[in-house]
Amino acid sequence: MNLLIMGLPGAGKGTQGAKIVEKFGLIHISTGDMFRAAIANQTEMGLLAKSYIDKGELVPDEVTNGIVKERLSQKDIAERGFLLDGYPRTIEQAQALDAALSALEIQLDGVINIDVNPESLVERLSGRIIHKETGETFHKIFNPPAAGYDENDYYQREDDKPETVKRRLDVNISQGAPILEHYRKENLVTDIEGNQDIQDVFADIEKALSNLK
Ligand code: AP5
Ligand code: MG
Repeated sequence: MNLLIMGLPGAGKGTQGAKIVEKFGLIHISTGDMFRAAIANQTEMGLLAKSYIDKGELVPDEVTNGIVKERLSQKDIAERGFLLDGYPRTIEQAQALDAALSALEIQLDGVINIDVNPESLVERLSGRIIHKETGETFHKIFNPPAAGYDENDYYQREDDKPETVKRRLDVNISQGAPILEHYRKENLVTDIEGNQDIQDVFADIEKALSNLK
């Protein structure tokens, strides 16, 4: 099964993505995670990406298209299937993805769109904490780690500062609609109500995916 997961920053793409890939054995490809890994490794691409991410802007299409295309052409993708998280984010990226998949003779099976009220997202992002050792995402209030956890074992993302979040939301709201339209025309999109508990969102996604299989 080959899937996209879409939604505004903080909608729950990473949270639901982790559950989906665990349940269905897919490979999770998150462009945001790939950029953050490149930044941590201080590669040339990482340094370039950081200059955009820190401002809440999108990394240029040619860079992003290149890393996704390279990952999709690896052997495990055809064997296990994938969940793309945070890509495509511009209509040019959607076209590049169509071309890459068609060259690889891979078919897209569905697009999960997590629909959330934008007003709730600042609160979600400002309370997000990530476990340093495992990379697992939590929320101080909505999804806290075990009771009595040590705050020093967790970090907050640099781009979760309120100023950057505002820019990220503006950029994604303006770019997102045409991409969804692109996939709606192909009848691939399932809209999921994201304004509910994490487990309830996942139950709805599971239902939608069982209809796909
Ligand atoms: P990326 O890492 O993809 O960030 P994003 O799209 O802004 O999305 P997030 O990861 O912030 O949110 P999420 O939807 O994964 O939410 P999560 O599950 O963590 O991209 C970062 C940057 O990289 C971009 O700004 C851009 O610069 C660059 N980039 C990436 N891809 C690119 C591309 N294709 N092109 C160009 N540039 C690109 O949940 C958020 C919080 O809410 C967590 O704390 C979680 O516990 C909590 N939560 C989740 N679900 C619920 C719920 N149902 N109820 C309550 N709380 C919840
Ligand atoms: Mg994410």
